[in-house]
Amino acid sequence: MKLLALSGSLRARSSNGAVVRSALALVDGPTATADIGSLPHFNPDLDGEGATPPAPVAALRTAVADADAVLIVSPEYAHGAPGTLKNALDWLVSSAELMHKPVALITASPSPTGGDYAHAQLRETLRMLTAEVVTAACREIPAIGAKIDRATERVADEATLADLRTAMSHLAAAVTAATEHAAAADA
Ligand SMILES: Cc1cc2nc3c(=O)[nH]c(=O)nc-3n(C[C@H](O)[C@H](O)[C@H](O)COP(=O)(O)O)c2cc1C
Repeated sequence: MKLLALSGSLRARSSNGAVVRSALALVDGPTATADIGSLPHFNPDLDGEGATPPAPVAALRTAVADADAVLIVSPEYAHGAPGTLKNALDWLVSSAELMHKPVALITASPSPTGGDYAHAQLRETLRMLTAEVVTAACREIPAIGAKIDRATERVADEATLADLRTAMSHLAAAVTAATEHAAAADA
């Protein structure tokens, strides 16, 4: 599985960034992380007919199109999804690279709820984008702070790591199923 990750946190020592690194390390296949912090604010005027999309937008779209699946890992801010992440998803609405793309959505928060408000908002946005959100690969991770090893900036909690492995294997299975479905349709 060729997997692209998007993190909703821009913090250098982000817990969600640690979840991304740990999850990508569990995947069999090439992985990459998108730079969504350099995207301009979404403006349809920059993206309409005859317009050339800004370079970071074009790069994001190419990266999503090239990936077999997308992993989105995000904190919750003010009971919602981070603006940076919603901005990135807004840039993908009209270009449609996420359409039918298998997606794993993980929210991680120090709170006991695991960022459930952000999770629900992002899930609804992904539904609108007609991404294939793979429910078995989605997680809300509570109390994330205690689960990170600050020396390595990776997930250290064994149960969380095992669960991330399970989530990534469900995502890979969805990619395999989608590939087989496409091959059967072509035959
Ligand atoms: C402005 C602000 C608002 C926040 N709002 C929420 C919130 O609504 N729910 C929540 O669970 N955590 C909230 N948090 C805590 C974040 O989940 C926490 O800072 C988390 O570590 C951020 O993710 P990161 O470590 O990946 O950067 C908020 C943090 C900040 C700075």
